[in-house]
Amino acid sequence: MAGPVPVASSLSDIYTVDAIGTQAKRWNNLLARFQAIYGQPAEFVARSPGRVNIIGEHIDYSLYPVLPMAITADSLLAVSTNVASTNTKEGHYKIKIANVQDAKFPAHEFDIPYEAVDIDATVHEWTNYFKSGLRGALELLRKKHGNDFEPKSMQILMDGTVPAGGGLSSSAAFVSSSALAVMVANGEKTVDKTELTELAIVSERAVGVNSGGMDQSASVFSERGSALFVSFTPSLKARPVSFPKTNPELTFLIAQSFVTADKFVTGPVHYNLRVVECSLAAAYLNAVLNPPGTQLPSDASPLSVSLHGFHETYFALQEHSSGATNSKSTESQLEELVALTAEKLDKRDGYTREEIAAVLNISVDELNKKFTSRFPVRAEKFKLRQRALHVFSEALRVLKFMSLLEQQPTNTDDTSEYNARLGDLLNQTQDSCRDVYECSCKEIDELCSIARKAGSYGSRLTGAGWGGCSVHLVPAGKVKAVREAWEREYYSKLDLSEEQKEAAVVVSKPGSGSAVYLVDDKPGPVVVDDRDRGSEVY
Ligand code: ATP
Ligand code: GLA
Ligand code: MG
Repeated sequence: MAGPVPVASSLSDIYTVDAIGTQAKRWNNLLARFQAIYGQPAEFVARSPGRVNIIGEHIDYSLYPVLPMAITADSLLAVSTNVASTNTKEGHYKIKIANVQDAKFPAHEFDIPYEAVDIDATVHEWTNYFKSGLRGALELLRKKHGNDFEPKSMQILMDGTVPAGGGLSSSAAFVSSSALAVMVANGEKTVDKTELTELAIVSERAVGVNSGGMDQSASVFSERGSALFVSFTPSLKARPVSFPKTNPELTFLIAQSFVTADKFVTGPVHYNLRVVECSLAAAYLNAVLNPPGTQLPSDASPLSVSLHGFHETYFALQEHSSGATNSKSTESQLEELVALTAEKLDKRDGYTREEIAAVLNISVDELNKKFTSRFPVRAEKFKLRQRALHVFSEALRVLKFMSLLEQQPTNTDDTSEYNARLGDLLNQTQDSCRDVYECSCKEIDELCSIARKAGSYGSRLTGAGWGGCSVHLVPAGKVKAVREAWEREYYSKLDLSEEQKEAAVVVSKPGSGSAVYLVDDKPGPVVVDDRDRGSEVY
């Protein structure tokens, strides 16, 4: 899984056969528009996809493993470094960036000083996502080539098909493809997937959302046909996971709610607040359950202390003091943590800053400085009990889901019962997201209950929530019934454009991750292998 980002020699290396016709048209359009805008051909295209998360919601920033997969929709950046330097300021390089959706995402031109990339996270500006990828990639390039490294100027045209704010991580697709584009533009012949992912994770936070590492990992590492098990400790690792053959066959459907969740705007009361609550819960549990003076390890989570860090510290100390040699399984540790949380964090209506600071033995100012200064949040009380309960129980569900996948169904003629067990875990995730983590919304709840009634084994929100997308595990024979039920009971009640209706529901096939396509080598239309062309005409 680790290793360099692949260089695709044909679109067939990137997309499945059924997608190639549409994609070839889109790529050729991108390259033609690049030529029309900049008066010269693009040198290469950097590509990174969106993702759907199967299970493991809102636990990546607590450093627990998750199971997403890449989707076909992606972010493409066509790039040339052949930029005239005549009107670029001394000591600066130029970035010209345009978008095929130019009405929604207007073109910009920046002169950026060699030393630093300035990002104003107080304004929600689409090019901030490019700049965050640029900043991260340059940090890596400086580490490799020294501080005197002078970045190349770039002209860029972007085409993104992941719906923005739709829970399928258009942002990570954009940031990962941007960082990849900057690396290639600056002469890197190979780009290491782990390095790219790590820098994309950290740099996306510059736009103002204190996110975890699931989206960028799925975008960079995914392989066609497999889901991806991503773990964050002791270091970032990703491995492909396949679903066993089942009867009935299983299909993942993704359904849009058309409630746009703007995490940037709602961060202080939604996403960023949850990150703070989880880190505060870790610190609080450490203070009440570990010996006085125990420090949590500083880790790769957004606020440097995580529930996973607490988890490891707690059991390491337990083992040490009891002299036990037989470690408990992670499953039983998580079960124990659920019980301990329910007992020790007993205030259901939440904890004030003063209450938490007193237990942590720090001042409220220190608490604010450590937990709420970089990403401000608005809350009178922090729901530590509910957030920790969700995280530990969701981490446990991921492990249960993985062990089901590894077990394989026993009765291969009819795996309905096995399928239902997978679905139950997804349904439990949805219940926990709705009631305990409070990141669902009534529209997503509705899509889930309509789908279940029409035959889905398991239905839940995917991604950050508060709108966006839902994911459903549906027997192949019920896909039509589920789609019809949504149309009748949900979509027909919304005022949707034809384009929105088209995009409302997609059958999701696990797609491939980041790739680079060198246009220089192959003038003319993008290459599509004949063997994969199928019968489509384009
Ligand atoms: P989630 O993080 O819940 O999975 P998401 O990543 O789609 O969903 P955000 O993290 O809020 O949602 O990121 C959306 C932002 O990314 C948009 O507001 C826009 O600034 C930028 N963006 C996404 N797609 C494009 C695009 N095709 N062109 C330009 N900017 C885009
Ligand atoms: C967003 C974030 C991810 C993850 C999910 C929730 O997509 O970018 O890091 O936290 O929400 O699971
Ligand atoms: Mg996002």
